[in-house]
Amino acid sequence: MTRLREIITVPRALDEVFRYTSNFANIEQWDPGVSESAKLTGGPVQEGSKFRVVVKSGPSSTPMEYRVTHFEPPHRVVLEGQGGSIHAVDEIRFTEIANGTRIEYTADITLSGLGGIFQPFMGGILEKVGKKALAGLKTALSAEPPVPGESIVRNLADRMVLPGALGFTRFGYAHRKKSWPALAVSLQGRTAVVTGATSGLGRAAAERLAGLEARVILVGRNRGKLEQAREEIVHSTGNPNVSFEVADLSLMSEVRSLAARLLDAELEIHVLVNNAAVLPLKRSLTGEGLETAFATDLLSPFLLTRLLLPRLKQSSPSRIINVLSGGMYLSGINLQDLQNAEGDYDGSRAYASAKRGLMMLTELWAKELQDSGVVVNAMHPGWADTPGVQTSLPGFHKLTRSVLRSPEEGADTIVWLAAAPEASRVSGKFWLDREPHLAAIIPGTDGTRAERSALSEMLHEVADLSR
Ligand SMILES: NC(=O)c1ccc[n+]([C@@H]2O[C@H](COP(=O)([O-])OP(=O)(O)OC[C@H]3O[C@@H](n4cnc5c(N)ncnc54)[C@H](OP(=O)(O)O)[C@@H]3O)[C@@H](O)[C@H]2O)c1
Repeated sequence: MTRLREIITVPRALDEVFRYTSNFANIEQWDPGVSESAKLTGGPVQEGSKFRVVVKSGPSSTPMEYRVTHFEPPHRVVLEGQGGSIHAVDEIRFTEIANGTRIEYTADITLSGLGGIFQPFMGGILEKVGKKALAGLKTALSAEPPVPGESIVRNLADRMVLPGALGFTRFGYAHRKKSWPALAVSLQGRTAVVTGATSGLGRAAAERLAGLEARVILVGRNRGKLEQAREEIVHSTGNPNVSFEVADLSLMSEVRSLAARLLDAELEIHVLVNNAAVLPLKRSLTGEGLETAFATDLLSPFLLTRLLLPRLKQSSPSRIINVLSGGMYLSGINLQDLQNAEGDYDGSRAYASAKRGLMMLTELWAKELQDSGVVVNAMHPGWADTPGVQTSLPGFHKLTRSVLRSPEEGADTIVWLAAAPEASRVSGKFWLDREPHLAAIIPGTDGTRAERSALSEMLHEVADLSR
């Protein structure tokens, strides 16, 4: 057996440090020797909780299963891990100190089989690995990372379309993920409203926000799906503060009553994720006579945001996140034909034009909300395997299925924009994988300042905001 012992201090509160560190689903964020980690059991972390942890050892990797054997919040946790020839017992003790928390980490590692023969010579290597891991934990719980900046290379890749599009796949995600700092935050006391939370990215984002201890309000049009999503999220995260609101967001009357209910019931709203969207196969009108893609993908997030804005301001610092699409790169918006009535209808074009409109609003609102404590950003999830893609783009789905991201990977930047401290210092940008990207690659598609204002005025009028 080899015993490793490290002591670090971090400038964070004891409770917070205990919660973050004892949840081994986070270990991939801070231990460079771990490539993957996930919680295998539902509910809050407690005695008996299990984690899958993939340990890198040279070119190969060893999947391990860890189980919490002692859970004494906020002072002590013991986890026992087994995988391949490795057996580990990690005991972590936490003590409150004047300016933060002291972490005392002891790991007893036993190698069996062939590994056991080398164990006597492994002490030095294991010690180095342990020191690196604890240095990673210290960084995760100390520094506030800088806001990721623009990059000429990234902008060039966006312009060249193909390299940009390759980045939309799961390989792009896996590559970029390697350089991300830890997201060691708690959203306790923060309230997030997520539209389209019954499937795909919205569902995944809502679950992760609940996992970060936010109070989450799921918005969807189907009560049964909402009930199921709520139940599953509460079960998997152990966070009981998940509720839902039923609203068909293609109908402005329902957007209005949703906003009224939220304003009545919620004292504070800190995060609004405008995620719900559709890509219709053929042109259709809503019960209110509006073209469906325009109503759902552009007018609805416009109206919901405008109606909730006073509360977002009162609750500041707060954040608005608009979920867009790389399809927007190929599209401008025709202000004379917002409802896609001219020529043959193309659902992808109507969808892309609505997303472009929402990008223009993101830029407009970022200026309007400067110094208000509310930041507004847009994001592209990459290409993720969701029910939406399966039904709206079956050909694309069939062709790309093997390279698509999981919904959780697609939703990562939504969660980062909602939660990361550094993301509160930036507004009006278009993000993919926690990096700012060009909002337009074809000249003229991004819209002028005057066009952004004109679009906003037109939407005001159609939504009849003066009512
Ligand atoms: N997946 C991708 O690769 C990808 C790529 C680029 C952009 N996006 C964007 O990501 C967002 C989520 O898409 P997704 O792929 O996760 O699609 P999805 O699986 O179809 O999820 C869309 C969500 O929106 C809800 N929704 C649709 N119309 C609604 C309405 N009228 N009222 C209330 N809720 C409504 C859906 O509810 P139901 O469950 O009731 O249908 C569902 O919860 C969208 O903004 C999409 O444009 C996705």
